[in-house]
Amino acid sequence: MNAVARISAAAGVERIGLRRAVVIGAGSMGGGIAAQLANAGIAVDLLDVPGSDPASRNDPAQKGVERQLKVGGFMTPAAAGIVRPGNIADDMPRLAEADWIVEAIVEEVGAKRALYRQIDAVRKKGSLVSSNTSTILREALLDGMPREFASDFVITHFFNPPRVMQLVEIVSGDENPAAIIGTARDYCETALGKTTVDCRDTPGFIANRIGCYALAVAAIEAIRQGVSVEEADAVMMALGAPRTGVFGVLDLIGLDLIPHVWGSLMSALPGADDLQNFDLPGTKLVQDLLAAGRLGRKSGEGFYRLTPQKTKQALDLATQDYRDARPFDLRQLPGDGKDLAALLESDERLGRYAWTVFANLVGYVDRIADDISLDRSDIDRAMILGYGWSQGPVALARRYDGARLAARFTAEGRALPARLLETAPVRAGRGTTAPALSIASLREQGKAVVENEAASLWDMGEGIACLQLHTKLNSFAPAVFSVLEASLEHVRSSFSGLVLGNDDPRAFSAGADLRAFLGMIERKDWVALDAYIEEGQDLFLRMKYAPFPVVAAAHGLALGGGCEFMLHCDAIVAHAELNAGLPETKVGIIPGWGGGTQLLRRAALNPSVPRGPAANAAAVFDVIWRAAVSTSALDARGLGMLVPADRIVMNRAHLLGAARSFAMELARNYVAPERASIAVAGRSGYLSLTNSVRASRNLGQISDADVAIAEALAGALTGGDTAAAHLDETQIMTLERKACVGLAKLPATAARIEHMLKTGKPLRN
Ligand code: NAI
Repeated sequence: MNAVARISAAAGVERIGLRRAVVIGAGSMGGGIAAQLANAGIAVDLLDVPGSDPASRNDPAQKGVERQLKVGGFMTPAAAGIVRPGNIADDMPRLAEADWIVEAIVEEVGAKRALYRQIDAVRKKGSLVSSNTSTILREALLDGMPREFASDFVITHFFNPPRVMQLVEIVSGDENPAAIIGTARDYCETALGKTTVDCRDTPGFIANRIGCYALAVAAIEAIRQGVSVEEADAVMMALGAPRTGVFGVLDLIGLDLIPHVWGSLMSALPGADDLQNFDLPGTKLVQDLLAAGRLGRKSGEGFYRLTPQKTKQALDLATQDYRDARPFDLRQLPGDGKDLAALLESDERLGRYAWTVFANLVGYVDRIADDISLDRSDIDRAMILGYGWSQGPVALARRYDGARLAARFTAEGRALPARLLETAPVRAGRGTTAPALSIASLREQGKAVVENEAASLWDMGEGIACLQLHTKLNSFAPAVFSVLEASLEHVRSSFSGLVLGNDDPRAFSAGADLRAFLGMIERKDWVALDAYIEEGQDLFLRMKYAPFPVVAAAHGLALGGGCEFMLHCDAIVAHAELNAGLPETKVGIIPGWGGGTQLLRRAALNPSVPRGPAANAAAVFDVIWRAAVSTSALDARGLGMLVPADRIVMNRAHLLGAARSFAMELARNYVAPERASIAVAGRSGYLSLTNSVRASRNLGQISDADVAIAEALAGALTGGDTAAAHLDETQIMTLERKACVGLAKLPATAARIEHMLKTGKPLRN
């Protein structure tokens, strides 16, 4: 379907008063931050230096926009349309309009300070100015700047790429009023969807300070202790690092950045800082690799390389020769890589290595914790969200038996990490935003209203209930239906609205249980299959026409039956990163629980789709036939799954709260929708949809089985042979159900489902 022409501001953005932003510096970070602002529907200017060609002075900024289009910074290409490129020679007056000015230019203190003077001359009084610096102290950036500027200035340190990485470190100072720090947090959290942590103004802030130290210790100790690159990567993973471990991540960052990143951090830190004892840039091996141009992935070889035959090789840290990589399974580690105590206490080589890294890291973080953070819990949050660790160093220290740790630290003459082991960390900071509404917080308050092994109904407060699925990827096991049915009764009698949602980071719902579906096909139990589809349709329609509003809090995967569940709601509040779709054709069937019908309904509500039954059917056919899955909520809007009245939330943690608010708004004076009557395209619509499919068949591009799917889908979406101009939605749903059962009877379908279950990939037959 058409791309969205206009992107309205994401939910909550109006409340925080961010109407216009300017980003200066259109490189990978500035371009990415501007793209994320545009994704939230915020008008943004992206300025860079003027281009050398007087006819195209905005070229450098324009290139930044184009780069973001290429690397996926925009959630829909249309978002690029609300980034206005410009240059700092001609367009500084635009700053007068901006509520937020983000500086993301080269990492040079002089250049940044000069720019701040230009900014201060034109900016609106009270506007927030922030720098994305990764290494320069706030205090140094502000040297010579007036106090009024300093009071509106903080560091907002994003991670690369800004759309994907969850962390923003905020560094403020004594001159900042609490309100301006709150504004910075709101802009980063509500508008850009990030999680913020407060950092003190120290070199590397939190994540890079600890991350650089951990990598330096892990690399240098591996070299010293004769641990291979694969072994070191595995041990680091067991301690919480992502799959790339230590050497894999150095290859990814690029070895050429080691002198710059680690070097600048070391020179900014005092001589007594323990990082000085782990001098990564000064390590002979690193210097040899740099001299040989072995820079990691960007040069094709570093600690690992791929041979021309695409086999992986690893560097022997002692001889600097490459040899075939030895895949290292975490289960080869003492304690299977799961039992931390067994790993740390093992007297084997890798156990001793793990202990050295652990003890140094824990000791270091304990010494610097209060210098770098206002709240120790921010340390773990920063490492998890900024470095992709599965757990932070504070949690790591506490996972090991406290008495054993104390005994070994004492025996080795190390200072006890008393701060990290304290059970209740003291909050010294300014207080973060109120905890978000979540299923976990509801569980703390009490028991579910209705519950079985597959789903639970919770009281969210304010008269709204929340139905949470908790099967594998929250898919529709039969047990979900009984809770859904009971929930509809409960909400009718005791609540004024229902939200569908959960805390799962991956899925709203990945759909129907394919295995159950396949079982019925294998037993040729067509009656049961038909009844199973009908039961889903019936429940979804009862939910849709219930006398209370239902709001889906959709996020992550909303596929197949999960997407149909969402499409039957009165309204959808979607997290910006929504992957919604009806990919049933990939397993040889069409959506059975009314997905096509509800998309037809929504097409009529969507102004970006040309009206008229033939055009609507064609648009819906295209989405289902291609098995399109949205890459974002904005994309889902373009696909016709979301309509303009639905809302988009940038911050995943705000989703359930926003859905509850929406349900409360709808509950005032709520009347159930009228039964839907849908204009259908009939026989001529059917023929026009299937003609092009048959042409593809004649060209050999698709199989007979594909044609059967297309015909079944086209038949349902156009009303088939009907002569009526309108059909009741249940009539179309009956057509969908019959078509779905008909397809299930074809041998090609069972083969497709089996293949998908086995390989996770579609079968072409
Ligand atoms: P980059 O080199 O990709 O882009 C910098 C851009 O700023 C260039 O387009 C350049 O033309 C422009 N520029 C330079 N001087 C300017 C001026 N006076 N006025 C306007 N534009 C100017 O750099 P990148 O990587 O985007 O970094 C930008 C900032 O973000 C730096 O402070 C860096 O330390 C920080 N940072 C970088 C991260 C990364 O992974 N690349 C991560 C976090 C922070």
